[in-house]
Amino acid sequence: MPEMETAEFETDLSLFKYDNLEQLPPAYRDLSGAERTERIEVALEELGDDVVILGHNYQRREIVEHADFVGDSYGLSTEAAATDADYVVFGGVTFMAESADIITDDSQSVILPSMEASCPMAGMAEALQVDAAWAELTAATDDDIIPITYMNSYADLKAFCAEQGGLVCTSSNAADAFEWAFDRGDKVLFLPDKYLGTNTAHELGMAEETVEWDPWDPESKDAEKAVDNDIILWEGYCQVHERFRESHVEETRAEHPEANVVVHPECRREVVEAADVVGSTATITETVESADPGETWAIGTEIHLANHLDRWNPEVEVLPLCGDACMDCNAMRQIDPNYLTWVLEELLEGRERNVIEVDPETKDLAGVAMDRMMEL
Ligand code: 13P
Ligand code: SF4
Repeated sequence: MPEMETAEFETDLSLFKYDNLEQLPPAYRDLSGAERTERIEVALEELGDDVVILGHNYQRREIVEHADFVGDSYGLSTEAAATDADYVVFGGVTFMAESADIITDDSQSVILPSMEASCPMAGMAEALQVDAAWAELTAATDDDIIPITYMNSYADLKAFCAEQGGLVCTSSNAADAFEWAFDRGDKVLFLPDKYLGTNTAHELGMAEETVEWDPWDPESKDAEKAVDNDIILWEGYCQVHERFRESHVEETRAEHPEANVVVHPECRREVVEAADVVGSTATITETVESADPGETWAIGTEIHLANHLDRWNPEVEVLPLCGDACMDCNAMRQIDPNYLTWVLEELLEGRERNVIEVDPETKDLAGVAMDRMMEL
């Protein structure tokens, strides 16, 4: 399996959403693997139950090895809601840490070790842009439109969805969220992942009722035409999953006729159709873990998860779906173990670094949209 390079530590601070986030101090930049592992273990021992480390399935090995829980976005949210640790150190990206802050108590702090871990897809639906689209779409119809945002979005968009009677979903409950919305309204505006939206529409037998809304292309935006459809899909996507093509599935099957293919629903429709199984990163993990010894599974998702599955399941043949062309998620990769060492050692000194704190008003509203999802 391909090895991934490490991230840079210096960047332009002005690009980031939270202005309290700090870069790694120079003293932490050259730690050896053995030294940081030892220091992380010592810090965790001393911090005990005060800290919990949550790690997304796409985190690098040196992070998941220290995590108390490793899972998909939905699983991480339920763990965050359940923990009473004072500090939730999040191995994931900004929108996940925000979601953890939304569902934990005000007395708990959520720490994102590196400020650069921002998912590009979440940035593809800015709340201001969505407000403008909403005004156009609601002016064009008397029908009730229910907005649903994928978890991969920022807190202000989650708050917007709550205000407009909508909710949040993850890749593991998107179909349930659509059904929830159609029980309460006539149409759905789904943000920001058009591929997850398309795949969910197919799952519900509503593929013919979708239309795309591209906020960057004024020519293509026609509100009258859009509201003739029941599902309006925002033109966002994941750069990691978009890269998979049907030809990758065909080539894998030609080279490994015994291989089964499992892919994430952020992949293009034709890739999902060509696969044997589609599901969230938890479903992908369970699929490989429940495979019989000797089975071969090609993994159509971010490369770190394919690498973990290969390591965790030595009796199963695990292949990345597009070989060396498979991408790692640059945002997830920013959570460097040197950063983890730093934030934990700072906690030992009573200093909280890189805390993600959603403003109280947004937090309350976004919490409503998250609660609606948790109750699905
Ligand atoms: P999961 O909810 O399946 O873990 O996916 C999160 C994600 O960011 C996929 O790109
Ligand atoms: Fe965002 Fe894609 Fe990375 Fe998931 S894999 S965090 S959607 S960029």
